Amino acid sequence: MRKLLVAYATKAGSTAEIAEFMGKVLREAGAQVDVLPIKQVRDLSSYSGAILGSAIRMGKVLPELVKFVRTHATTLSQMPLAYFNVNITLMDDTPESRAIVDSYFNPLRAICTPLRVGAFAGRMDYARLSWLMRFLLRQNKEEIPEGDWIDWKAIRAWTLDVLSLMQREPTPA
Ligand SMILES: Cc1cc2nc3c(=O)[nH]c(=O)nc-3n(C[C@H](O)[C@H](O)[C@H](O)COP(=O)(O)O)c2cc1C
Repeated sequence: MRKLLVAYATKAGSTAEIAEFMGKVLREAGAQVDVLPIKQVRDLSSYSGAILGSAIRMGKVLPELVKFVRTHATTLSQMPLAYFNVNITLMDDTPESRAIVDSYFNPLRAICTPLRVGAFAGRMDYARLSWLMRFLLRQNKEEIPEGDWIDWKAIRAWTLDVLSLMQREPTPA
């Protein structure tokens, strides 16, 4: 297996932290990995698999991830691929919230089918948001509570599962 790519789209940093953590888990398991913001990835030719993730805002993955998958659809469809999203819906982990966060992958699935998807609860840290965004959110009567729901153990387990799947997939010539 050549190198793996973990690429992410973030607004307030938690998706970047999770992607870096995935990179660490993969390296500890013996894989070669690049962890990069999605906007910095130009070329996929040196990678044998990709794990692509995004923060969720207003019920959607960030547009740069959708654009990236569309741009590189042909290459991505020939390599093992996984998507992850980071959201706040899973702070209540129920079958209903699982169905909601799974639906966030639909625009990506419509372009390229992944081997696996992973949805993870993130964090709400108002200090990381712009003044305008804090103002807009506080106008909303159902303000999202501040907190950190990141389950590092679950993310580690998912990452190792994806690695074993990617190692099993034949690498395209
Ligand atoms: C303006 C705003 C809108 C959000 N919209 C959603 C949403 O629709 N669904 C959801 O599950 N989480 C939503 N979230 C929560 C984020 O997905 C969560 O904070 C995540 O950890 C953000 O990742 P980031 O730190 O990489 O930007 C929203 C957060 C903000 C600040």
